[in-house]
Amino acid sequence: MLYLVIMLKKYTLFAWVLVFAVACQPISKQLENRGTLAKNGLVSSAHPLASQVGVEILKKGGNAADATVATFFALSVVYPRAGNIAGSAFVVYRLDNGDIGSIDGREKAPSKGHRDMFLDKDGNVIKDLSLIGHLAVGVPGSVDAMVEMHKKLGKLAWKDLIQPAIDLANNGFKLTKREAESLNSTKESFKKANRYPIHLVREDRPWQEGDIVFYKELAKVLERIRDNGRDGFYKGETADLFVREMEKGKGIITKEDLANYKAIWRTPVKTPYKKDYQIISMPPPSSGGIALLQLMQGTENYPFRKWGFLNSQTIHTMTELERRVYADRATHLGDPDFYKVPVEMLLNPAYNKKRNESINSNQKTPSTAIKEGNVRAIESVETTHFSVVDKEGNAFSITTTLNGNFGSKVMVEGGGFLLNNEMDDFSVKAGVPNQFGAVGGEANAIEANKRMLSSMTPSIVEKNNDLFMVVGSPGGTTIITTVYQVIINVIEHQMTMQQAVNAKRFHHQWQPDLILMEKGAIADSVKIRLQSMGHVINEIGGLGKVDAILRLPNGMYEGASDLTRSDGAALGY
Ligand code: DON
Repeated sequence: MLYLVIMLKKYTLFAWVLVFAVACQPISKQLENRGTLAKNGLVSSAHPLASQVGVEILKKGGNAADATVATFFALSVVYPRAGNIAGSAFVVYRLDNGDIGSIDGREKAPSKGHRDMFLDKDGNVIKDLSLIGHLAVGVPGSVDAMVEMHKKLGKLAWKDLIQPAIDLANNGFKLTKREAESLNSTKESFKKANRYPIHLVREDRPWQEGDIVFYKELAKVLERIRDNGRDGFYKGETADLFVREMEKGKGIITKEDLANYKAIWRTPVKTPYKKDYQIISMPPPSSGGIALLQLMQGTENYPFRKWGFLNSQTIHTMTELERRVYADRATHLGDPDFYKVPVEMLLNPAYNKKRNESINSNQKTPSTAIKEGNVRAIESVETTHFSVVDKEGNAFSITTTLNGNFGSKVMVEGGGFLLNNEMDDFSVKAGVPNQFGAVGGEANAIEANKRMLSSMTPSIVEKNNDLFMVVGSPGGTTIITTVYQVIINVIEHQMTMQQAVNAKRFHHQWQPDLILMEKGAIADSVKIRLQSMGHVINEIGGLGKVDAILRLPNGMYEGASDLTRSDGAALGY
């Protein structure tokens, strides 16, 4: 509207009639294609009940940090396939005064972990050992990250932030159709991974939409976290249950491993994009932030807006940028406390410019040393991202994971919570792809107490030094390209937040050398043109599940959840 008024400031009668006509359109028409609009605060997460918990905390006077903690614990109950207390979390935040920060609650290898722990005596990878069962579990970090974040940035009392999750666990909640199906399809894996019957396995009949599920044991653990903070998880009864579970299942995490775990405050990585914008994201041990920033730097040199959304030249160029960035990821990225990650080099615009000079506009550059086969068909993997803003303009971007769908499928006996299978994010053997087809080497080799490399990319975008966007996604290695596309969709293709999230996506990660393309994303003519450039295209169901928030020029927030790819909800007030 404002733009229109400025454009038409010649004050012709015709112009004013036009402005009046636009202004009088029904609100719903003007807001078409926008997500949830809110003035005071917004939470966009993978589950409506979790978003609602976050919004209630904001309404009670909590800030975005408080709402993030409350939403996190609510997700550990209502979204156990990825929400967790025994997984990892990365948070990137931007306060309204412009301060930025990030906390790394990534799991680490147990102190008894070592480079060859998933290899047989001949040095071959033992199938699925890093994915299923007790050895797959890293020392969890997400709870400590929440505790530290609340200590530094929270406003309300800790106990008030955990209580809503306890209530959900005790009172039960209704399963959505997707959740019921997901529990049913995981039934056999749950039975295989657990020595005792767990309550998520139903023998009388399959789970159905609307069934009510309770988490009574988890409620007890949450009560201990409510009352004792980090000690409620890393020490005492919860730690005893955790270690007993390890001992029974031949796991190697000890009481000392739990007691010694520490989340780490880290400086976010950032880079300007086209003068007005600044991209802020998670530093190592995530590869996500660096890779995203490299992609954004590469994008500066190409007219994506002119070429258009999902145009063959746009897809080709993004693919070529991604190919180069993921090759860097495989070699250079790992835990910075164990391996000297060349952050400055990777984020040097001159480096990225030089590296992208080899991009041929008519032909793909083949990825060298392509590994056998494709990305392993992953039946289902889950992580979850949520975005939070409050009325002061504080913004939190958080991605949290158990790695696989319900992690290692192991539920701690007596504790009712699931354990991660994050050890698979290490490079278990140099050059051997993990479940996401990602390869690595020295930088991401297993060492005792080292953090495994992640692709989680919780990010914040500034425009003209002010908050612009909060964004992130699950999806393993595809997280990075999903976040990249959503940002480009808004900035270059001028979509609303909701349109940018809804839009079809694709992905390339250097190896294997193929483009994963969401079904129905491109016309046959675009496909034929890409194939003529040498690209191999594999169609897949869905890439990522984005939960994002945009600050509009009038100060309102637009929240967008990935409504076609998940059960998520952006709720505000
Ligand atoms: O940290 C990582 O990169 C992975 N463990 C994330 C896994 C994931 O996103 C699975 N989700 N769909």
